[in-house]
Amino acid sequence: MRTPKTTLAFDVYGTLIDTAGVVAALQKLLGARAAAVAFSDQWRAKQLEYTFRYAAMGRYRDFRVCTRQALDYCCAAPPADFDAATRDRLMAQYLHLPAFDDVLAGLNRVAESGMKMYAFSNGRADDLQLLLTHAGLRAYFAAVVSVDEVSSFKPDPAVYRRFLKRAHATAEQSWLISSNPFDICGARAIGMRAVWLRCNPAVAFDPWEFAATHEVNNFTAMADIFTA
Ligand code: 2OP
Repeated sequence: MRTPKTTLAFDVYGTLIDTAGVVAALQKLLGARAAAVAFSDQWRAKQLEYTFRYAAMGRYRDFRVCTRQALDYCCAAPPADFDAATRDRLMAQYLHLPAFDDVLAGLNRVAESGMKMYAFSNGRADDLQLLLTHAGLRAYFAAVVSVDEVSSFKPDPAVYRRFLKRAHATAEQSWLISSNPFDICGARAIGMRAVWLRCNPAVAFDPWEFAATHEVNNFTAMADIFTA
């Protein structure tokens, strides 16, 4: 596997970057941690649902719009009926989410192997640059590839093909690393290999025909695959 041609595409939200990084701010607004976690989970789920729906309808709106509309959805009823300024602050915080704890060390190890690494995400390119720079991760990636370039979302095959084009790589020599099962299915469906980062053991993989090539529980185990 240690060939210079191996290309790695790292998913961003939920894989490198912790979308639950907004929980502390939400707890200040909502009081109880459980309420903040529930809000954060619903925000993330609705955000992804909107990407799927806009892509299926052929009416692309970028990830920042999906994130804001999902936030507005979650703010429909008290006690979470935050005013516009509060919602703007939460959106700003979404550009400064933290990396998961084991990401930096794992990326360091994989980078030493000489494989070409990319960030590949539903996010807007400008948001991704800010996010990855703030989290101290940007320098690990040869480029940031955003689905915005094809005005669609994962798991549309067009976005994975766009990644391959940008990376000048074939599907056979390319791997996706993602915690999102729908992302793994999307990559496998076009012939890429894929590592599913199963951060939460309670989450099951979809019973579809597109199984992950490898399943690991953390970023350190992911790095083991590419540095063995
Ligand atoms: C990403 O593309 C799927 O949200 C995930 O970064």
